Amino acid sequence: MSTQLIVSPSQGQSQSEAAGARPSSGCLMVIFGASGDLTKRLLMPALYNLACDQLLPTSFAVIGIARDAWTTAEFRERMARDLKQFSTRKQFDQAVCDAFVQRLHYTPGSFDDPQAFARLAQLTEQLDAELGTDGNLLFYMATPPVVFGLISSRLVEAGFQKRTRGWQRVIVEKPFGHDLASAIELNREILKHWREEQIYRIDHYLGKETVQNILAFRFSNGIFEPLWNKHFVDHIQFTVAESVGVEGRGSYYERSGVLRDMIQNHMFQMLAYVCMEPPSSFQPNAIRDGKARLLEAIRVMKPEEIDQYTVRGQYGPGRKPDGSPVTAYRAEADVNPQSATETFAALKLFIDNWRWEGVPIYLRSGKSLWKRGTEIVVEFKKAPEVIFRGTAVDHLDTNRLIFHIQPDQGIELRFHTKVPGPTLQLQPVNMRFSYGEAFRAGRGTGYEVLIYNCMIGDATLFSRTDLVETAWRIAQPIMDGWAAKQPEDFPNYAAGSWGPLKSCELIENDGRKWTEIINREVLAKVPLFHTCDPVLLNVLVMLLKPVTFSAGDVIIRRGETGQEMYVLCRGEVEVLDAQDKRIATLKDGDFFGEIGLLLAQPRTATIRAVTSCDLFILEKASFAKALEDHPQFAQAITETAHKRYQVQTPS
Ligand code: BG6
Repeated sequence: MSTQLIVSPSQGQSQSEAAGARPSSGCLMVIFGASGDLTKRLLMPALYNLACDQLLPTSFAVIGIARDAWTTAEFRERMARDLKQFSTRKQFDQAVCDAFVQRLHYTPGSFDDPQAFARLAQLTEQLDAELGTDGNLLFYMATPPVVFGLISSRLVEAGFQKRTRGWQRVIVEKPFGHDLASAIELNREILKHWREEQIYRIDHYLGKETVQNILAFRFSNGIFEPLWNKHFVDHIQFTVAESVGVEGRGSYYERSGVLRDMIQNHMFQMLAYVCMEPPSSFQPNAIRDGKARLLEAIRVMKPEEIDQYTVRGQYGPGRKPDGSPVTAYRAEADVNPQSATETFAALKLFIDNWRWEGVPIYLRSGKSLWKRGTEIVVEFKKAPEVIFRGTAVDHLDTNRLIFHIQPDQGIELRFHTKVPGPTLQLQPVNMRFSYGEAFRAGRGTGYEVLIYNCMIGDATLFSRTDLVETAWRIAQPIMDGWAAKQPEDFPNYAAGSWGPLKSCELIENDGRKWTEIINREVLAKVPLFHTCDPVLLNVLVMLLKPVTFSAGDVIIRRGETGQEMYVLCRGEVEVLDAQDKRIATLKDGDFFGEIGLLLAQPRTATIRAVTSCDLFILEKASFAKALEDHPQFAQAITETAHKRYQVQTPS
């Protein structure tokens, strides 16, 4: 990882040149499972990206091996075609692609066939002699973990381990086990054939620039680290929201669920980066030791704590963010119609060490949610509000440092500032660094950095035996607790929603809220905001607060004094008159509750949720401020009020 640090490209340099990255020594890369999806969608585009950046060794070739009876010519032809489809480069460089596919070779064979491995041994020797790869071999297991052991023993039988020239490394793909016992067994099996330093366990989240940047950001900037502890941090939130469902992977997902699929691996890796102690250096083992210590300090839940600290969910029918219908998880192909597999989970964890004692760590992840977004929010403790008594400031928000991991990539700091004018009024504002504005680097697959690091022998970004097993130790009691108790409320969230209501309660019971990162696309779905200028949109992103209601809940009660207006992000509500008669129905993108604020009068109608609803709240003071500062917004609101209620509103 040291080679990726201190990157500051000047004009004309590519990112890799600026970083001082050089191709590794020559090697052969053998891909087991070369006819599969992973190879065409991620590995080939990643290798092609490395070729474009001149980061492949001059002496280099790929040997694909799989059951399909393809020839080398056919393999090349297929990969050339797939590359065009899956390349992540803005501009496709045909010349680089043509030269790259000439480096591809293929040998058919089944993993239990010793003859196939004898042919592989012969081919590697031949290519090594032709290309001068010094005996260096990188084996990539793009296969299910059950065959790792089999492939490894076939390689031993074919004499690979007896070779004394060069290095041999193996990249293994997740999942590393299905639970603690199977992970220990899998590690034992792999370690029978390979030394720990030869094993590179992939977690593709560690290939993401924004994830790698967490450590660079924390340890290269003097200003945050002194605040990075229980004295200044109130809590930390990790969200990995996916808008996609299981996408035809029902049979895999049924055995997995989000805890195994996302949290135990990707999210715990990010958690370790955010919360680990500073390492003594950026050497691989210093960082991996730091991560291991952190994961060991996470409090393992007791069976009686599972209900209190975890929430699981499964999506029912609903809609995608683009409005198209989504079937329930239980109706997906290869899914049990009574499935108890969780497609959403939220956890509250504690880290029992000096730095983080008592600081809750909230994690949540789910499929078929309202948006795709991975964010980490470090929420600092509030400044004392009491200082502002006697001023127009009635409450303070917390400061938040937000790591936007994907699809937005950047870092944002939210804080208060005085609104220009003669009185003391505060408004939340932000400072934001965006990758797209600061760097020219093209988007990769995340795999190029991992493959490159394996080639140069840097294991920083890969998981170690102890890390994998410690992560399972944290997840195991949760899995056991869930397995012991069938979820009675599944499905408990609509596809396209913010997830189960209970996940809000998990954090709200502690007097906190999830920070929903609202991007422009979300605001664009609300017609009221169409006339807003960019300044107001930026303000709204910070002012709008998320809230969820279940079907049948009363959101606004007639006669009460209004304290906020509501924007309906998803769902349906009914407007009821004094006799509880429905006078209107409002849907996605509508807003309500504004009239009580405009006229400073009690609520004129009751609003009740017909379906479960996700809403944004704009509080009274923020609403008033938005009206005052943004005339188009005021006009849009008042025009609707005229139409809806035939009232004259104050101008
Ligand atoms: C994979 C999971 O590890 O990560 C998938 O198996 C998930 O279910 C994917 O969709 C998410 O990756 P990313 O990079 O799109 O966040």
